[in-house]
Amino acid sequence: MQNHPYIITISSEKGGVGKTTLATNLAIYLKAMREDLTVTIFSFDNHFTIDRMFEINGGKSGGNVHDLLTGKRAKDLVQLGQYGVCYIPSSEELEDVHQRFKEPMTLAQLLAGSELTGIVIIDTRPDLNLLTRNALYAADRAIVPVKDMPSVENCKNIFALFERHGMDKKSLALLPCLIDERIKFEGEFRDQKTLLRAFAAERGYRCLDNYISKSPKVESLGTNPNGKIYPILTHGRETEVYKQYALITAEILRVYDAALNSRGGLSAHSPPENDDKRRQSSPVPSGGLTESCPICGEPLTGVPENRSFYFETSDCGRRGFLHNDCFADMLCGALYGLYDHSQALGAARTAIAKKAGSSVSLFTARKPGSAFVLDFQQFDAAGELTFRKELPLTGFAEGKPVSGLHDRLHVLLNQSLAGSEGRLREGGWLAVHPVNPAHPETVLQEDTYRALRQLQAKIVAPDKGNY
Ligand SMILES: Nc1ncnc2c1ncn2[C@@H]1O[C@H](COP(=O)(O)OP(=O)(O)OP(=O)(O)O)[C@@H](O)[C@H]1O
Ligand SMILES: [Mg+2]
Ligand SMILES: [Zn+2]
Repeated sequence: MQNHPYIITISSEKGGVGKTTLATNLAIYLKAMREDLTVTIFSFDNHFTIDRMFEINGGKSGGNVHDLLTGKRAKDLVQLGQYGVCYIPSSEELEDVHQRFKEPMTLAQLLAGSELTGIVIIDTRPDLNLLTRNALYAADRAIVPVKDMPSVENCKNIFALFERHGMDKKSLALLPCLIDERIKFEGEFRDQKTLLRAFAAERGYRCLDNYISKSPKVESLGTNPNGKIYPILTHGRETEVYKQYALITAEILRVYDAALNSRGGLSAHSPPENDDKRRQSSPVPSGGLTESCPICGEPLTGVPENRSFYFETSDCGRRGFLHNDCFADMLCGALYGLYDHSQALGAARTAIAKKAGSSVSLFTARKPGSAFVLDFQQFDAAGELTFRKELPLTGFAEGKPVSGLHDRLHVLLNQSLAGSEGRLREGGWLAVHPVNPAHPETVLQEDTYRALRQLQAKIVAPDKGNY
């Protein structure tokens, strides 16, 4: 069915943030949660962690990552390791092959023609050398573990790389790692992960919905008399991290499933012009729903009856539900400057919420001059324009601090339409549809969803003057 692998690259310029721990344990969780999926891992560093984790005693001796990079057939280098995970043994030294990878797409081409299937996980060294760049270019999904402010700050080079090569930044996300749950702050940013998320959002970087805590037990899994490194799945059951990995893996599998669906027989890096055709013919996407409301960041399972809106981006890369109050409050602030304590809020909010509840709200990013503006439009069920307001997006690119209600719009845009460094993708749109809060998921039933798509197609049609 699928003729080239889905590639997940784990990367960060900062050392010791948990890349290798994530790469290896993710491989094990993926395999455990999806038995029939082929999962292959290799690393560009020379710590041999992959080998210590997956090697089966008496495993065949053969090639390694160096051979892969010099063009040997990947299929001949892959070994079946512990926990059913396939791996390519690490190499002492890769310096001499770097020059082959001067062009960023070399590894992508190599892997596309490699006959590897399923998911391939690439663990990289803590720098942005040519191999890391190639691994990022090849990635269908790039995950950057961050553990503190400097590591978030450091992401700018990775985002700049994506920008420079026109790579799809939707696939790039930060994952707060090594979070010390004991650290609490006063005020809005109550803990380390909230602070990191806000810091990232401010810069236009997207975070995964989940995070990984710091755990002494997890840290100890690498220190054993026999030199082995034990997995969290089998040896860390009593930790929070054990559950967090399951959530992250589930999130990744959902996006993977959605990608497979939309990929069909097409190449992973097929030109975007095919998107529309693909969208028309594709059935209801099976995955990719966000777990938390992108405006407040709270899990949607918390108060499920409060899911009153469904959102979807033009490329279908982000979709999910929004809390009723979050969306209404956001519109109050963004459209009318009505914030929490304003007296007018009560009555106006009711009207705004009512209007949103009977309209499709469409947010389109445009750049008529040097700055982005947001074209906000609402349509009735027949697809007729009923409201329009152009909103300046000052502060978006400058990465003003996230605070107050107005910034809910920024957070939502960051979570949906964002490029990097606060830049929006021009022409991309975000549609927000009201759903029945008693049964929000019925919007994803085939007929209902098809109708939603038809309405979207109608409201974004070129003759409406949207482009
Ligand atoms: N959740 C966790 N809790 C506690 N310690 C952890 C956790 N995850 C990883 N560690 C520890 O943090 C250290 C760094 O992790 P790891 O080697 O995965 O980072 P890395 O980013 O790959 O490092 P490098 O940049 O050197 O390759 C290791 O000692 C590891 O055991
Ligand atoms: Mg490492
Ligand atoms: Zn919310």
